[in-house]
Order: sequence, then C-alpha cells, then structure tokens
Amino acid sequence: KPVVLSGMQPTGGMTIGNYVGAINQWLNLQENHESYFMLADLHAITVRQKPEELRDRVLNGIALYVACGIDPEKAALFVQSQVPEHAQLGWVLNCYAQMGELNRMTQFKDKSAKHANNINVGLFSYPALQAADILLYQAAQVPVGEDQKQHLELTRDIATRFNNLYGDVFKLPEPYIPELGARVMSLQDPLKKMSKSDDNPNAFIMMLDEPKKIEKKLKKAVTDSDEQARIYFDRVEKPGVSNLLTLLSVATKRAIVDLVPEYEDKMYGHLKKDTADAVVAMIEPIQSRFKEIREDQSRLDEIMRSGAEKASTRAQITLNAVYDAVGFIPRP
Ligand code: TYM
Repeated sequence: KPVVLSGMQPTGGMTIGNYVGAINQWLNLQENHESYFMLADLHAITVRQKPEELRDRVLNGIALYVACGIDPEKAALFVQSQVPEHAQLGWVLNCYAQMGELNRMTQFKDKSAKHANNINVGLFSYPALQAADILLYQAAQVPVGEDQKQHLELTRDIATRFNNLYGDVFKLPEPYIPELGARVMSLQDPLKKMSKSDDNPNAFIMMLDEPKKIEKKLKKAVTDSDEQARIYFDRVEKPGVSNLLTLLSVATKRAIVDLVPEYEDKMYGHLKKDTADAVVAMIEPIQSRFKEIREDQSRLDEIMRSGAEKASTRAQITLNAVYDAVGFIPRP
C-alpha cells in the first residue's frame, strides 16, 4: 500500500479550515493507504507554549482526530515527540537544507513578523523538521492544504539533494491537495486564509465552538457586494459566497454544481442559514464523540502508545539507512 503522512500543530485547536483542507482528505486516504497522522508538538514549540496548555492541546488533538473519524486501527495516530526519530532525522536534514532556501519560506516570514520577539532557530529550520516527518515514512503522498505546498516542494528539494549524494535513500513525496477547500477563507475577509491566529474570532470557526457560536459567526460572514446579489461559485468575483458554498458542499457532501441552482432566486441570508445548519449538523456529532473520548485517558494512552509504536517501527528503518549513508557507525 502507498504511504501517506500528514500532521497538524497542536496550537489553539482545530479550525474548520484544518478539517476541510486536511482531515477530510485523511479520512478517505486511511481506507486504502498505510497512513501516519501526527500531532506536531516539536513544531509547536517554535512558538512559545505554556506546558500545561500544550499537554491539553495534544490530548484534545488526538481525541479530535478520532472523533472526526480517523481510525486508530487503520492509521497510526501519534504524537511527534513520542517518536524520537523525527528529532534525529530533523537534525541530519538541517545539515542538508540551505539558509537561503529556508529564508524564502512564507510561513517563516509570516511567523517571524508575528512573533518578532522570538525569532528562534527552530522557527527558521521548521521546514527541515517537516521534511524529516515526511521522509521518515517514505510517504508517497502528503495530504495538506494549499499553504503547505511550499514546504512540500522544499522537502522534495532536500530529498533530491540527499539522494544525489548517497543514492536513492528517500522517496520523493507528492503533495495531495484537495480540489475543493484547499484554502478555506476568513469569514471576515474572504481574501485571507482562515486562521486560528486571526485577531478577530469571527473570522474562523473552531471544531469545538458551540453550535450557537458557529451560527452567529456564519450569520456575520462577509458576503460580496455587487449590484445583483446573485449566488454562484467564483473565487475571484465572489470570494465570500464561494467560501460559504465550499463549506456547505463539504458539510452536506453535495457537489457545488448541484447546490448552486437551488439558490437561483434566493438571498445571501438563505445561503448563510443553510450553511450554518449544515456545518452544525456536521460538527455536533464530532463534538459529542470528542467529549466521550477526551474523558477516557486510558483509551487515549492506548491510541498514542500503539500509534507511536507503529510509527517508530517504520521510521527506524529509514533513519538507519540515513545514518549509514552519511557514515555514522551503529552503536556496537
Ligand atoms: P497547520 O497546523 O497550520 O495546519 C494543519 C493542516 O490544515 C491545513 N489548513 C488549511 N486548509 C484549508 N484552509 C485553511 N484555511 C487552512 N488552514 C490550515 C494546512 O494546510 C495543513 O494541512 N507545518 C504544518 C504541520 C506539519 C506537517 C508535517 C504537515 C508538520 N509536519 C508533515 C504535513 C506533513 C502546519 O503548520 O499545519
């Protein structure tokens, strides 16, 4: 079976953008791939975290993955820091990534502007660790949203450089980006990506937001002002409406071409209401499953334990090959 790997940072919870751009793809892929899904806590500390909060968010993340339908029997669901090979290969790849190429990463530029008082070395070399995450599993595909494309390209560049020096150690991964929802936009400014770090909480929907709050946020969503308030899908002319249609489509599992005709002589208000209803109907059962799993510490422990074990078994094979390639002597 082809291998997929993906991950999410356990910072501040999961937005519906993370769900649509990533998790929704993971659900399909786990059916016929050898799948590894992780919580990137090593990455998370590139921005200062409170230890108690980080612990809580990692456990929330595991519970939420499962509540969304990631099946720990089908996929290895693990915490990055519990699989030491990530840090180990991350170091090696630091030595094969160039300052110049890391300096071009837009996530680094954005984050260093936002956290100007803590532009640490880890934040800079973040993509080398991400490359390690992916290459350790020889992943063929990496399901992510559009914003991670640049990191995927860098991963391929680092892998190619390494392979050119030492032979075919790494498989080159392909990004797997959904056709619909690769970039869920802010509800307040549909030209901007939806992000949980937005200053305006009305701009994003969290998977654990109360249903009432979700309804309110969608009601307040910015739509497009043109002469005739028509409803159709066009990211350029109608970014706000198109964003709502995307959410409606994912939440109802219906194609946009089938949805649009139903709004021929309806108003923006109808679309917002229907979207809110559909999103709440999708999220509510996830929330109740989440509560149940989150309270069951022994179940969480077992998921993390078996996930880390599966991941580590696979990761060790690659790490050994890498250590051998660069000339490290195995511990006698
Ligand atoms: P992170 O935690 O920022 O986001 C997790 C996933 O959600 C996607 N995403 C979105 N998709 C659509 N619309 C949006 N508005 C939106 N916002 C976020 C992201 O593209 C991502 O797929 N560096 C990664 C985490 C990571 C990783 C990895 C990913 C670490 N190692 C290895 C893949 C493979 C990140 O910060 O994602």
